[in-house]
Amino acid sequence: MTTDDHILLARRHLAAARKLTILTGAGISADSGVPTFRGADGLWRNFRPEDLATPEAFERDPRLVWEWYNWRRELIATKQSNSAHHAVVELEQRWVDRMWLITQNVDGLHRAAGSQRLSEIHGNIWKVRCTGCGVVSENREIPLPPLPTCRLCQALLRPHIVWFGESLWEEEIHRCDEALRDCDVFLVIGTSGVVYPAAGFASVAKEAGAMVIEINLDRTPQSNLVDLSLQGRAKDLVPLLLYPA
Ligand code: OAD
Repeated sequence: MTTDDHILLARRHLAAARKLTILTGAGISADSGVPTFRGADGLWRNFRPEDLATPEAFERDPRLVWEWYNWRRELIATKQSNSAHHAVVELEQRWVDRMWLITQNVDGLHRAAGSQRLSEIHGNIWKVRCTGCGVVSENREIPLPPLPTCRLCQALLRPHIVWFGESLWEEEIHRCDEALRDCDVFLVIGTSGVVYPAAGFASVAKEAGAMVIEINLDRTPQSNLVDLSLQGRAKDLVPLLLYPA
């Protein structure tokens, strides 16, 4: 089957789907110029997660961690949502309350595009969380030094990101689980499928009866498990799903 045949088939399944759940990863933002984690110029090829993205790293050197997040913030601030993010918004508008978006991305580009029904399971780089009182707030400017502190309790603020070794927020996981078990189509866009729990979502949805469609530049460890694997750039392929079957 050609890619065109796969796209036609994906459109047909979407047209028949009452409920739709979408999972996205760094690949959807790669077309906006945001670096992925494991690609050729991926962040984890040049930085060690244990130095920058763990609670221990933050305890050891909060300034280094904040400097790294500020560098990523500056980079992301220059990027814009692309046609794939916009197509996901269009799908949300069509499916209304029968669609749920799960993203591992912390760049905020889905929200910037207009997505509203979403779980940002790894957090959001534009949000901070107080290490004392736990209050989460939006904060787009973290000038260093001094280290940022909470207005309410003066404790240190940290990025509102799920770091390695930390658990995901329970209510988000609960929400995602519902969306995975209760969808007809599960669309997986631009993720390497190696970081749990998201790496297990395709199996959960498939076991619950969903048709699983993957869109990725390359084959992934999940490609054999999914029902339909579309290879190409998210910015080209996701908008093609919007056409009638
Ligand atoms: P990765 O960098 O692991 O994988 C990106 C995926 O996107 C790969 O499978 C690429 O083939 C694919 N890709 C790249 N460009 C693409 C394009 N233009 N169109 C479609 N696909 C493309 O990123 P994630 O899977 O998102 O976690 O990584 C998952 C988590 O690992 C991240 O959320 C992050 C990281 O450690 C935390 O920071 C907690």
